[in-house]
Amino acid sequence: MKILVTGGLGFIGSHTTIELIAKKHEVVIVDNLVNAKIDVLTILEGITNETIPFYPYDVTNYEKMSEVFQQHQFDGVIHFAGLKAVGESVEKPLEYYQNNLISTMTLTQLCREHAVHKFVFSSSATVYGDQESPLMEHFELKKTTNPYGETKAMCERILSDVGHARPAFEISLLRYFNPIGAHESGLIGENPNGIPNNLMPYITKVAKGELSKLNVFGDDYDTVDGTGVRDYIHVVDLAKGHVAALEHLTKGVHIYNLGTGKGTSVLELIQTFEAVNHVNVPFEIVARRAGDIATCYSDASKAKEELHFVAEKGIAEMCRDAWRFENNQLN
Ligand code: WQD
Repeated sequence: MKILVTGGLGFIGSHTTIELIAKKHEVVIVDNLVNAKIDVLTILEGITNETIPFYPYDVTNYEKMSEVFQQHQFDGVIHFAGLKAVGESVEKPLEYYQNNLISTMTLTQLCREHAVHKFVFSSSATVYGDQESPLMEHFELKKTTNPYGETKAMCERILSDVGHARPAFEISLLRYFNPIGAHESGLIGENPNGIPNNLMPYITKVAKGELSKLNVFGDDYDTVDGTGVRDYIHVVDLAKGHVAALEHLTKGVHIYNLGTGKGTSVLELIQTFEAVNHVNVPFEIVARRAGDIATCYSDASKAKEELHFVAEKGIAEMCRDAWRFENNQLN
């Protein structure tokens, strides 16, 4: 199939592009480079040995996106493009609502105009709010703790309503848990601009000596060792989950957790990272981070039953691959 991948030079979009091409799909990428680097395109073409049509456009720009849809007859879209920093969304809610909602609506409108029926949306476990894990797709969505999460929940609702109004649409809403790790080549991975918000890129920069120590946000949660527990999934497994969702699409609106079903605490992740990479990660326990919840992990059975998707890579491999990528980065 010919697939438009928005945000295709980003962390998850780039890994998914590799898996799509590995399964003989054709990929066209749109990315406005607000949180990605253009050299990822050359790396992707090197890894896949394919020329990948690329447009440096903003998905909120209807005229520009219209050009892309006129030049390519897509069979489907995977929509990654969006702002995704939880803390930043609290400071800049309007930018998050404008960008994340308008991009999704623009894309959906163009899909309708060009009879592109297959739509896979990058959602997030954040939409569950502070509900009891293991989290299941049929749970009612609660108010999330930040505007970023709200935009994901609203996009899910928009796509669900469009899907119910237009039965020809085949829509899959994928709720990610915590994607970490990197492609085995070490050439692409999680490379946020500035000081990382997320745990793993912070750990790798501490291990490398770029940052002095990791601040562990609280050890007084009701968890195995008091630190936050999350469902970490290897980004390559997550990418494969997208291909599985795309290839199994049927009419209607479908929701899937993409996780491992297992929880790992911050201290457990640090210990595993140090053990497999033979490095030190100095840390200090500090106050909780606003908006954090104690525990968040998936019930991953629905994706297994309906998509025949099971995450295969464990925490040790995630730590090894993340470290390999960090070591390939120039300071
Ligand atoms: C993981 C754990 C922190 C940093 C968010 C979004 C989610 C997705 C992934 C976009 C928590 C602890 C973290 C640090 C720490 N984002 N931590 N020190 O918050 O679970 O999920 O990012 O798609 O939608 O909600 O991920 O990596 O920030 O935190 O102690 O410097 O690590 O408290 O327990 P989170 P995270």
